[in-house]
Amino acid sequence: MFRSVLPIILAAMSVVAFQETKAPEKLAPYYPTPETVVERMLLFGELKAGEKMFDLGSGDGRIVIMAARKFHADATGVEFDKDLVRQSTEKIRSLGLQKTARIIPGDIMLQDYSSADLITVYLLPVSNEKVRPLLEKQLRKGVRIVAHDFEFAGWTPEKTEHVEDDGEGRSHTLFLYRR
Ligand SMILES: C[S@@+](CC[C@H](N)C(=O)[O-])C[C@H]1O[C@@H](n2cnc3c(N)ncnc32)[C@H](O)[C@@H]1O
Repeated sequence: MFRSVLPIILAAMSVVAFQETKAPEKLAPYYPTPETVVERMLLFGELKAGEKMFDLGSGDGRIVIMAARKFHADATGVEFDKDLVRQSTEKIRSLGLQKTARIIPGDIMLQDYSSADLITVYLLPVSNEKVRPLLEKQLRKGVRIVAHDFEFAGWTPEKTEHVEDDGEGRSHTLFLYRR
């Protein structure tokens, strides 16, 4: 009996192991938000001292660092690119911001955002669609979400802001949502 079910058990175990080690999906390439727009995003998101913010796909950590340094928030980035994790973590350490800023090395889709007051997102439209159910499930009522350039289909923004010139001649659009 045991010998006949053994192959089924082994097959099921390998499926579980595969799922656990599945590589994260690349939800956007690395394309940093200009510093001028970072500040506009955090002001637009009404970030206050002591609030918890998360940047989903934090790149070189510039949003997390400004949130902690200039807005005195408790800031967390999530990033899966090892070089960007190292670079941003080193910058946080060199600025002495370790108590209020950190980078989680991992997949955006596998984190817990339930403590967030503000979420910032600069991903592709199709990725916003993938992230949306996770945020709908986890975020408390009243949490703000600032999306850079790409809307969340199915959500209505409370406000939209247009940045005509980021200092390098490019324009940007920001969308503010409230759960
Ligand atoms: C457009 S960049 C934005 C970087 C930063 N948020 C900013 O605005 O300057 C998107 C970032 O998301 C990261 N990323 C993409 N898919 C990811 C995933 N599944 N988990 C963690 N990071 C991811 C990329 O490596 C990249 O650094």
